[in-house]
Amino acid sequence: MTDQTWIPEDVDTGRPSIARIYDFHLGGDHNLPVDREAAREVVAVMPELPSILRANRAFLIRCVAHLADRGVRNYLDLGSGIPTVGNVHETAQSADPLARVVYLDSDPVAVEHSRRILLDNDRAVAVAGDLRDAASVLAHPEVQRLLGPAEPLAVLMSAVLHFVPDDAEAADLVAAYREAIPVGSYLAVSHGSHREESAARIGRAAETYSRKVAPMRLRSLEQVAGLLKGFEVVEPGVVYCEQWRPGPEDDPAPVYPLPQACALARKV
Ligand SMILES: C[S@@+](CC[C@H](N)C(=O)[O-])C[C@H]1O[C@@H](n2cnc3c(N)ncnc32)[C@H](O)[C@@H]1O
Repeated sequence: MTDQTWIPEDVDTGRPSIARIYDFHLGGDHNLPVDREAAREVVAVMPELPSILRANRAFLIRCVAHLADRGVRNYLDLGSGIPTVGNVHETAQSADPLARVVYLDSDPVAVEHSRRILLDNDRAVAVAGDLRDAASVLAHPEVQRLLGPAEPLAVLMSAVLHFVPDDAEAADLVAAYREAIPVGSYLAVSHGSHREESAARIGRAAETYSRKVAPMRLRSLEQVAGLLKGFEVVEPGVVYCEQWRPGPEDDPAPVYPLPQACALARKV
């Protein structure tokens, strides 16, 4: 790609980025040679990674459609990434044009590109921020303006909590959002995981990613469930993404589901 006007000036183009690598795996064109090189190094150990990320994205969209069906109108998408096919606001606003979405990401390309596609949308915004600072995220003027304090909302943490490798920090972070949101709100999580038969190999891929791109930690289904203390987990529970309410066109019971954990949980 020769047009690089999508790269904000403050981006270090010599370092790979989580958001741009994800974009590459999903077939997008907002990525650089340094991202593609790191992506290929991880895929050499873990060839199923692009399929995992597609299953992750499909879960996110099915989950938002499920929430929209239940009348959820407010969404806070933390670590939202570079917009790709089937975005949260498109799914939520096609179910209810009044739905409101705040996208938050720490990656400048993700924020800038999201802003560009949301220029004509007065009910969805993209902001820069660090989801690990829950107090600042929740106090952000755009979060306050669009989502307000009273109405239940859905907090989305899709494929991002594994970038909080410290277990205690991850648990405290989830708890901080839970404390702050009204009863009846939801938390949707998807998370890099492993299955027994491939744990060693996928562990090596995660080590490569941690070294080349950003520290990350895979968690088992049980460990992800442990992060959701204080929430009521919605059926079918903490499962792999392909097992979460598959649509008519999805395989309802893959024998070897891809190792990406997910859950939808409700504050009661
Ligand atoms: C793998 S992508 C997932 C994108 C999207 N949520 C999805 O599931 O399709 C992870 C995103 O989280 C962002 N991210 C990682 N750590 C973050 C943090 N501490 N605060 C905000 N965003 C973060 C990355 O920049 C990246 O865009």
